[in-house]
Amino acid sequence: MSIESKNRSIFPREEDIPTQFRLKGELIQREYLVDGELRTWKGRMHDVYSPVCIQTAGGIVPKALGRFPLMSGKESLRALQAAVKAYDNGRGQWPAMSVRERIRCVEKFTVRMKERKKDILLLMMWEIGKSYHEAQKEFDRTIGYIENTFDAVKDMNRVSSRFVAEQGIIGQIRRSPLGVVLCMGPFNYPLNETFATLIPALLMGNTAIFKPPKLGVLLHYPLLRALQESFPPGVVNTVYGDGKRVITPLMASGKVDVLAFIGSSRTADIVKSRHPRPQRLRSVLGLEAKNPAIVLRDSDLDNAVKECVSGSLAFSGQRCTALKIIFVHAEIAERFIASFVREVRKLKVGMPWEKDVTITPLPEQGKTEYLAGLLEDAQAHGARIINRLGGKVNKTIFYPTVVYPVSSSARLYHEEQFGPLVPIVPFEDIETPVRYIIESSYGQQASIFGKDPDIMGNLVDVFANQVCRVNINSMCQRGPDIFPFSGRKDSAEGTLSVSDALRVFSMRTIVATKEKEKNRQIFKKVVSKNK
Ligand code: G3H
Repeated sequence: MSIESKNRSIFPREEDIPTQFRLKGELIQREYLVDGELRTWKGRMHDVYSPVCIQTAGGIVPKALGRFPLMSGKESLRALQAAVKAYDNGRGQWPAMSVRERIRCVEKFTVRMKERKKDILLLMMWEIGKSYHEAQKEFDRTIGYIENTFDAVKDMNRVSSRFVAEQGIIGQIRRSPLGVVLCMGPFNYPLNETFATLIPALLMGNTAIFKPPKLGVLLHYPLLRALQESFPPGVVNTVYGDGKRVITPLMASGKVDVLAFIGSSRTADIVKSRHPRPQRLRSVLGLEAKNPAIVLRDSDLDNAVKECVSGSLAFSGQRCTALKIIFVHAEIAERFIASFVREVRKLKVGMPWEKDVTITPLPEQGKTEYLAGLLEDAQAHGARIINRLGGKVNKTIFYPTVVYPVSSSARLYHEEQFGPLVPIVPFEDIETPVRYIIESSYGQQASIFGKDPDIMGNLVDVFANQVCRVNINSMCQRGPDIFPFSGRKDSAEGTLSVSDALRVFSMRTIVATKEKEKNRQIFKKVVSKNK
C-alpha cells in the first residue's frame, strides 16, 4: 500500500479495531463526589468525542465516547464547602489524623486504582489519543510515584519527630497542612500529573477539590467510587465543567489555600487573579516550556539524533518537557538533518493501539490548524519542510514535520508548538542559542550535545542560571521522579518531586520552649502519650 493510500485509510472502521481496544458503548457520567456522597447531576452535560476518527458510511467521523456533567458555580461552591468543613481550620478528622492512618487511606485507594487499570488505559487511549504503551507507562509511573511518596512521607515524619536544642531553646519542627487545595492536571499526562499533586497534598493533611483537565475527564470516572470509599467525607471532592463557571467562584471565595495547576501560564494568571487575597494563596504550577537542544560541532551525531527525535516527537511532541527547537552547528547541520529525517521516517503514525506507534491523533480542538499556521508562517520566513509527508494533515493526525532553517522572525521560533512539528536552526556563533535561552519567556530545561569538557562546562554554567535542568547528551525529561522538577520565568512556580511535593503542600511549624526541666517534662509527656 502506498503511503498516500495508507494515509487515506489511517482511521479504522469499527470492525478493524482490535477487540480488546473496543469500547463497550458510550460512558455517561452523571455522578460527582461531594462530601463523601456520589451525587447525581441532572443538568447540562458535555459530549466527549475522541480524537480517533472512525470510517463510516457517512464519512470519517470522530468517535463519540460519552458525556460528563457541566456543573455550575453553585455545585462547585458546595464542593468547596465540603472541603472547608472536612479541613475545619486544621481540626478536622483528616488533618488531625496520624500520617500512618492517612497512608492507609491512600493505600486503599491505590489498590482500587490498580484494579481499574484496564478501563483507565482504554479511556486514556480513546480520550486523548495516547498510545497503549505510553498510557501503560503513565499508569505504572503514577503508581510508583504514589508508593515512593509513602516512603518519603514516613521519612519526613521520622525526622520531624526529633527535638532540636539550640541556644537554650528546644523545639520540634514539623510540617503542617495548608488547608484546601484546588487540584487541576493537564490533558497530556492527565493521570500522572494530577495524582503527583493530589496524593502528596492529601498525605500532608490537606483536603481537596479536584477538577480533571478539559480533555481526559472520563478516564478518571472509574476512580470516583474508589475516591469516595477510601477517604473520609469531604476530603476529596470533584467538579466538572467550564473553568469560568466552576473555578471562578471557588477562587473568588478566598477559601482556596493552594492552587495546584498544570497547564498554561495564561490560565494560571487568570485563576490566581480571582483570589481576593493573593498573598494567602500558595501556587504550585507547571506551565509551558520551549526547551532547546544545542547540538555542538563535536557531538556524537548518532546519539544526538536519537535523543532529539525522541525528545521532540515522543507522544507526538505533546510533553511539556519536549525539545521544541533544535539548534545545530552549521558545519554539521547537513549531516544531522539527513540522519534526523531518516529516523523520523521510521516513526509509525497510526492509532493508539498499534504496536510501536509514536504519532497518534491530537486531542486539542483546532490543533492541526494551529500547527499548519505555524508551519506556513515559518515557510514565509524562509524555512522548508525537509521530510516526506511533512506538513500533511488528515483530520486529527498531523504528520511529523521537520522544518529548516527556521528564522528568529518565525512564530515557530518562539511559540510552544506542543505537537509533532520540529524547527531546526543552524548556528555558527554559540551566542545564537545562548541569547535564545536568555531572551526566551520560558526556563524549564535545555539539552546540550557535545564532547569538549571546557565548552560544555561553560555552557552548563550559563544555562544553569536560565533553566532548571541542563541535560548533557540526552533529551529533556521530568523523570526520575525523585529529581526536582521546576522551571523559571513563565515555566513553573514551585518545585515538584516525590519529596518536594510533600514540602510544597505543607509548611513548617515549630513547637518551642526554653530548655528548663519543667518544660522538658511537659514535652516528654506529650510525646510519650503520642499527642
Ligand atoms: O508534560 C510533562 C510531563 O511531566 C513530562 O514528563 O518528561 O517524563 O515525559 P516526561
